[in-house]
Amino acid sequence: MSEPVLEVENLTVSFPTDEGTVQAVRGVGFSLHPGRVLGIAGESGSGKSVTALAIMGLLPRNARVAGSVRFRGEELLGKRDRDLAKIRGSHISVIFQDPTSSLNPVYTVGWQVAEVISEHRNVSKDEAWKRAVELLEIVGIPRAAERAKSYPHEFSGGMQQRVVIATAMANDPDVIIADEATTALDVTVQAQVLEALKAAQAETQAAMMFITHDLGVMAGFADEIMVMYAGKPVEYGSTDDIFYAPRMPYTVGLLASLPRLDTDASEPLRPIPGSPPSLVHLPPGCPFTPRCPLAQAICSQEEPELRAVEGAGHRAACHFSEELAGRGEEIFAATATDSELHG
Ligand SMILES: Nc1ncnc2c1ncn2[C@@H]1O[C@H](COP(=O)(O)OP(=O)(O)OP(=O)(O)O)[C@@H](O)[C@H]1O
Ligand code: SF4
Ligand SMILES: [Mg+2]
Repeated sequence: MSEPVLEVENLTVSFPTDEGTVQAVRGVGFSLHPGRVLGIAGESGSGKSVTALAIMGLLPRNARVAGSVRFRGEELLGKRDRDLAKIRGSHISVIFQDPTSSLNPVYTVGWQVAEVISEHRNVSKDEAWKRAVELLEIVGIPRAAERAKSYPHEFSGGMQQRVVIATAMANDPDVIIADEATTALDVTVQAQVLEALKAAQAETQAAMMFITHDLGVMAGFADEIMVMYAGKPVEYGSTDDIFYAPRMPYTVGLLASLPRLDTDASEPLRPIPGSPPSLVHLPPGCPFTPRCPLAQAICSQEEPELRAVEGAGHRAACHFSEELAGRGEEIFAATATDSELHG
């Protein structure tokens, strides 16, 4: 495989608060490769956005960060804001949930895309505009040449998000970080914006970090998936391994809570019972223990390490990964009884 563009190692982020220290990210590591998509999944509060903000150097001042984030071999943690801004501007693009936060209401959408192109390349105004229209076409804006002259408020949310994606492509980035980029949109529009993201990724051949709490939208897009729980990666693997051979009960629970195409649509979805732990006073042991149908005594005593399981590059953090092989569905199917699981 190609050299990684971004390498994250043992990243930890905490925030001092009046209630105590919030351990938001507790040892995240992964590599991003050109042309590949890493999906990052996990419930609200699992540390996905804080991980992304740490990589971009956009955390609030009070955050305490440790570990390593290397872009093309160069350490980013500890760099001055000015230097980081330069790297972000020319190599790392980010797409957030709310497109209005990224668009300027007083300029036309074409102008905004062209502006990024001009900043990055030595081209004439006409050439920048032409390329801007091309990019708007790639992300699926109909009649792009004409619509480029519109202002953001003349666009729907989904169309605005496509403009943001075009802007994110405009500097020909090495890394694109999409944080819940399709979340606020309704299902049909979500699928279209996902297509726009795929087109952007194919055109730029950037490495992509695709963050969403909805594991379902990752199928058919992510090459690898990292599942996070309570600030830690609890499973990492190819998209097939995560979907078809999950080895961590939390991943199994996330999968079980997805709407299924192969069953009656009237069947209620099964969210994982309970809620994630407070990140201020984390008890020892596996943070999933109170919600886990497989939990045994050791689970509340020792936090499991992320370790290799069956499948190339596949890793899971669970004392009982082996017991899960081929039994995922059964385990979460009926919130099964203890005797059935442990007997
Ligand atoms: N500035 C801050 N000060 C204190 N705690 C923070 C701060 N920013 C984030 N946190 C906490 O860090 C944890 C991780 O938050 P994060 O935003 O990364 O979650 P997330 O996985 O992106 O969730 P979501 O799916 O809701 O976007 C949460 O418990 C959050 O409350
Ligand atoms: S370590 Fe124990 S509590 Fe944690 S996921 Fe595995 S079985 Fe469940
Ligand atoms: Mg988030």
